[in-house]
Amino acid sequence: MKIFSSLCALGPLLPLAASTILQNGQVRQTNFLNTKTASISSNSSAWKTYAPNAPELSYKGRWDSKHVSWWAAPGLKFGFEGQDVAITFGEHTTPGVLIAYRVSGMDWQMTNVTVGATHHLISASTPGVSGAQSWQLPFTFELRVTNWAYGVQISAVHLSSSSKLIKIPNFAKKIEFIGDSLTSGMYATYEAFSGFGYNIGAGFGNVEFSITAYPGICLHDADCWGNPRGQTYQWLQTSDTSWRASQLYGKDPEPWNFSKDQPADIVLINLGTNDNNTANYNDPAAYYTSYIKLVSSIHETYPDAQIILMSLWNGFYGLGNSYYQSAAFVNEIQNVYKHFEKEGYVHYFDSTGILQHNDIGPQWHPTDVGHIKVASHVMQYIKMKFGWTLGATGPEVQHETLYWNDEQGY
Ligand SMILES: *[C@@H]1O[C@H](CO)[C@@H](O)[C@H](O)[C@H]1NC(C)=O
Ligand SMILES: *[C@@H]1O[C@H](CO)[C@@H](O)[C@H](O)[C@H]1NC(C)=O
Ligand SMILES: *[C@@H]1O[C@H](CO)[C@@H](O)[C@H](O)[C@H]1NC(C)=O
Ligand SMILES: *[C@@H]1O[C@H](CO)[C@@H](O)[C@H](O)[C@H]1NC(C)=O
Repeated sequence: MKIFSSLCALGPLLPLAASTILQNGQVRQTNFLNTKTASISSNSSAWKTYAPNAPELSYKGRWDSKHVSWWAAPGLKFGFEGQDVAITFGEHTTPGVLIAYRVSGMDWQMTNVTVGATHHLISASTPGVSGAQSWQLPFTFELRVTNWAYGVQISAVHLSSSSKLIKIPNFAKKIEFIGDSLTSGMYATYEAFSGFGYNIGAGFGNVEFSITAYPGICLHDADCWGNPRGQTYQWLQTSDTSWRASQLYGKDPEPWNFSKDQPADIVLINLGTNDNNTANYNDPAAYYTSYIKLVSSIHETYPDAQIILMSLWNGFYGLGNSYYQSAAFVNEIQNVYKHFEKEGYVHYFDSTGILQHNDIGPQWHPTDVGHIKVASHVMQYIKMKFGWTLGATGPEVQHETLYWNDEQGY
């Protein structure tokens, strides 16, 4: 018996109504702040306004020339003085998109943002603003878009008038993820913000990361689940395969300017689950050939990067009195690895044995626990293999994963 996971790109079809987060079938209580405020005029005496191209603003992941965010969990980071931060979101913001943001090492806070509106995100009462030690200053502001298809457009950043923005230097190392719905965290509680791409990148705490992953996408350049192009093409573009991107750019996305961006030191690929589905182009030989092409293109783009090919778990099925893991393209991925083995920069990460059947939710994707298990193993592998250090030593990475038992005797 084989159970197919249907890793579809449902983005365009999903209504923007508030969705529900379930924990073992129970509805999670969420606390999404209402941060919308009156608009701030450019010559207000209370505020100082910066344009979206201010050099102090560090955009994380892929953003286009209009300062619109793309792909999974893109971010914005900057240092600031004073006690207030407000952001005006432009017309290309997805209505109601949920963002996570925080000051310095405090816990993430969530708010949904409105098209064309200004949101007063940080004020004197925001956790972390009062009580900072002088050596902890300046404050750091960080924002992440939680979804994988929705995005924001930054129109302006406002601080209190007597203060200023401060550039926060990038970390020296960078990891890039090229993936599909699995890496982008589809159906995890906070979507991309709970997925293993984010968990690994943010989990290191001392590296830059970019998650070039989109639900339903194939590695091979074919239409898969409505995504018009595969990653051999789309990875080279600024925008993803969403309906939002097709509305803004049609078939002509902005090519990603790799020379403007920090090169990746490690590229982790988890692709093929959608290629391995008869609903799509259905040609294992084309998958293999395209995988070789993708690795070559990554190596050409980032000559110094280590490239990790991840094996696919492809879901689990029950048979008789136990559970078993499905396979997808086991030989193909190993053969791609063997093809490049002598070159030294391609590595094979066997994901077998990390996930069990109950780490996959009813929507065929890893639960938060599943994502954290994958991330933890990959991080330890990268640490042992490439000498990276685990640099997140306190501030939360996974939001709202505090599940526990408060009795000791039951
Ligand atoms: C987003 O905000 C609107 C009001 O601005 C609210 O009606 C809606 O329920 C919010 N969505 C979520 C997911 O909180
Ligand atoms: C800027 O300030 C001037 C004078 O205070 C005012 O007349 C004008 O309307 C303001 N402009 C904007 C865009 O708020
Ligand atoms: C890409 O970025 C580099 C470095 O900022 C710049 O010199 C170059 O003109 C850019 N290329 C394009 C096509 O925009
Ligand atoms: C998926 O992968 C399995 C294992 O490698 C293979 O037997 C099967 O033919 C593949 N299916 C498709 C549709 O590519």
